[in-house]
Amino acid sequence: MSPQRTTLRDLHGMLGSGEPIAMVTAYDYTSALLADRAGIPMILVGDSMAQTMLGFDDTLPVTVDDMVRHTAAVVRGAERAFVVADMPFMSYQASVSDALRNAGRLLKEGGAQAVKLEGGIATVETVRALAAAGVAVMGHLGLTPQSVHQLGGYGVQGKTSGAARALVDSALELERAGAVALVLELIPVELAQEVSDQLTIPTIGIGAGGACDGQVQVWHDLLGLSVDFTPRHAAKYAEVGETVLDALRQWADDVRQRRFPSEDQTTHIKQSLDLGSKTLTPPE
Ligand code: KIV
Repeated sequence: MSPQRTTLRDLHGMLGSGEPIAMVTAYDYTSALLADRAGIPMILVGDSMAQTMLGFDDTLPVTVDDMVRHTAAVVRGAERAFVVADMPFMSYQASVSDALRNAGRLLKEGGAQAVKLEGGIATVETVRALAAAGVAVMGHLGLTPQSVHQLGGYGVQGKTSGAARALVDSALELERAGAVALVLELIPVELAQEVSDQLTIPTIGIGAGGACDGQVQVWHDLLGLSVDFTPRHAAKYAEVGETVLDALRQWADDVRQRRFPSEDQTTHIKQSLDLGSKTLTPPE
């Protein structure tokens, strides 16, 4: 029998009992399977796949088709985790009907349990419509990477009184509209604490200090796979990139030196093979 998948009720139960929620991004079958085996209750199929998997400079080029395909792979790999799929740039901003159609694809074709979208007051009507349609929606405030050009970079948000007030108001409005959880990205810990205190839904922080109800990290940052850059808010729990580099160099050298393949990776004929001009004979 398949193990039971984590539900929103389980996540809210963790919130109630004060157990912090760990969420990690995953973009493919194998990493989702590993995250699931590690007992991580929430997986985000983040549009950060634009950078980590596809090599773009920012998240903007990711399409709904990309998200559906990768979400489906993650759902196949993770039997237990609650899987959240990011709604990509311009898949929900233009109209509520776009948002409903695209969220529907992420749930129906991708198999996600929830979707996440970025933004404050401007997204409240969309969140309300999605929630009314039965879609579990996660909000995302603070640094919203899809607005990188408007924000002028990836800096800390909510540093002025006005910005902090707007963020708290947006968080409350999103909860009232039916958001089931909220990502808080790159904001001061004091502001994250205030939002977490005021909301009844879980806040999941990234670069928002330890006051949130949970933490999310990007797979590549956490495991040392971001070879050129790791953000300050990420802690490396492994040096997988270095391990992979070492393994690849060693293997390529073994190929050059004819040490690979060895007998272990080689198959022999079991009986003589008559090729006409010659006969191949099995080893003694
Ligand atoms: O796409 C992503 O990885 C995210 C996290 C930074 C929260 O949205």
